[in-house]
Amino acid sequence: MLGDYELFKKDFLKLSGLDLSFYKERQMKRRINSFISRKGHSTYKSFFNSLTLDKKLYDEFINYLTINVSEFFRNPTQWDVLEREILPYLFNYSSTLKVWSAACSTGEEPYSLVMLLSKFLDLNKIKVLATDVDTSAIDKAKLGLYSEKSLTNLPKDFISKYFKKINNSFKISEEIKNCVQFEHHNLLKDRYPLNCDLIVCRNVLIYFTEDAKDIVYKNFNHSLSEYGILFVGSTEQIIMSQKYKLEPVKTFFYKRVKKDSEI
Ligand SMILES: C[S@@+](CC[C@H](N)C(=O)[O-])C[C@H]1O[C@@H](n2cnc3c(N)ncnc32)[C@H](O)[C@@H]1O
Repeated sequence: MLGDYELFKKDFLKLSGLDLSFYKERQMKRRINSFISRKGHSTYKSFFNSLTLDKKLYDEFINYLTINVSEFFRNPTQWDVLEREILPYLFNYSSTLKVWSAACSTGEEPYSLVMLLSKFLDLNKIKVLATDVDTSAIDKAKLGLYSEKSLTNLPKDFISKYFKKINNSFKISEEIKNCVQFEHHNLLKDRYPLNCDLIVCRNVLIYFTEDAKDIVYKNFNHSLSEYGILFVGSTEQIIMSQKYKLEPVKTFFYKRVKKDSEI
């Protein structure tokens, strides 16, 4: 009874700038259909009409589609590798680093990066660019208020140093917040920043089609500095990374293939 999904995707692209064709179709369609029926609609057309009229519904839908689950130091063993091997390698080349947390969700990832970098640098030398397509996730990130659960993997000394308990939540300190610049960015549409020494992009490409991953990996290659590193999620190892002129340096970490060995 839902009707023409292709037309819905086209209309939604015009409305939101989000191209649903780049997301795995079965998974995406199932989620959308369930949202639509929960909201009491039986066709894509009537649901789309409501989206155009009701900003709250629109925001709720974007928020639902983008799946904002995150936590501090997600998959801690990979952050150990980042601390013990990748950051010392990067600091061999430069005393400051250009760091980009792409698809940063509600801020746990870029704030984790700042705390980790504070072991190597003074806070006033740390700048992390943090981007996401979902502006309400970015708003929450800027607010910096977190549940105890999202702090599970955070070292205790970071909690006592950089968080204040307010009722049942934990508020991150202004000095950590000041090191992060949040911006809206669609990985499938917008221009990428250049000369990044470290790109952290985790737990978003799992939702993308192969065509979408193709676009993103090529762009990441272009975005990395000569010795830059890409850090991916724990289920996101890049198959045939050579195709994107990326090579693994450790599991979940890739660097650009040097120009003189380009294929
Ligand atoms: C599951 S969260 C991952 C958060 C964090 N990177 C982590 O690993 O904990 C996925 C994030 O990807 C974002 N996202 C989805 N599509 C995107 C796109 N096309 N461009 C940028 N961000 C996108 C969502 O808004 C969401 O915040």
